[in-house]
Amino acid sequence: MLANTFGRTMLRLYSRSADSLCGAVSNVGRKRFIWTVACKRRTLSVRLNSDERRQQHAFLPQGSTRAVHQTTVDPDELKYFQSLAIKWWDENGEFRALHAMNDLRVPFIRDNLLNVHKAHHPGKPLAGVRVLDVGCGGGLLTEPLGRIGAKVLGIDPVEESIGTAQRHLSCDPDLSERVSYRACTLEELSADMAEREAGQGDVLFDAIIASEVVEHLADLETFALCCDHVLKPGGSLFITTINKTNLSYALAIVVAEQLLRIVPRGTHDWEKFISPIELERRLESNGFSVKSVQGLMYNPASGAWTWINSDAINYALHAVKLAEEPQSDPQMGKPDHSAASHT
Ligand SMILES: C[S@@+](CC[C@H](N)C(=O)[O-])C[C@H]1O[C@@H](n2cnc3c(N)ncnc32)[C@H](O)[C@@H]1O
Repeated sequence: MLANTFGRTMLRLYSRSADSLCGAVSNVGRKRFIWTVACKRRTLSVRLNSDERRQQHAFLPQGSTRAVHQTTVDPDELKYFQSLAIKWWDENGEFRALHAMNDLRVPFIRDNLLNVHKAHHPGKPLAGVRVLDVGCGGGLLTEPLGRIGAKVLGIDPVEESIGTAQRHLSCDPDLSERVSYRACTLEELSADMAEREAGQGDVLFDAIIASEVVEHLADLETFALCCDHVLKPGGSLFITTINKTNLSYALAIVVAEQLLRIVPRGTHDWEKFISPIELERRLESNGFSVKSVQGLMYNPASGAWTWINSDAINYALHAVKLAEEPQSDPQMGKPDHSAASHT
């Protein structure tokens, strides 16, 4: 009953545009800038560490004509996830919303991959598919993908989280044949793969997953570039993240973190949220074509996620790496959205 009422209220909110919500806020005497000031508070603390953050990486990954000069790492984010590293597998704890998200994201990834890789193994539809799970944390998504047959490498720069993931994996010897973990960033993995290219060569990945990760990165351009470097042409990139709207500030930060405490306080920085259009533009300028963007919603009362017809808060995106290198676009030109289906 409570769950249904909450769901209906949220759906009504979602169906309004972010601007109309902002109008409603202004009508009761609060101004648009109040959101911005509040959102910038956490960013300030991140900027205090900007020297630390600008550890420069410069290397030329596999088959690329463009070097990577930046790091995706925001040290504040790593400290934050380090403090939660033993909590990953508590289904009723801080990461319960991520546990619940598997009900939607695993089928989303599986079904899109099955459109390309035909299943030959009953019960293991992703058998033979090589997947990279970037920012895997404790392996909440890595393990289920391994269970449906994929050969998955989970990477995360937080060593403590990788330790938790490895300990959990060790309870299932069968799964250990298909799932492995490494404590590193995507740019480090990309550089290693480039260095070893002259030897036996690494097999590029068929798919990359970054679920609830891009909103924690210091540099999205480096992330997109490295994804391009480690993925096969025609390979899939799956991202789930949070849109940058006033509504996402209200629900993901005020409601989820501060009022209901579904997610620990300080998990998100609104400044780092990204709209599907902006993400699509970034990806397309790095050689990807976005195939679909789908909105989803978490109902804290029922603890379940559902697909919805709005991407105003959370969304899942599927992109495919094009065969050819993209032309560099100085203004990050206007992408052609005609191919992507948005809900
Ligand atoms: C919200 S958690 C999501 C974990 C996992 N993807 C899931 O959905 O269960 C965000 C993860 O991103 C990781 N992360 C933060 N900065 C990163 C970076 N620069 N590169 C890769 N992962 C990063 C964090 O350590 C954390 O494990």
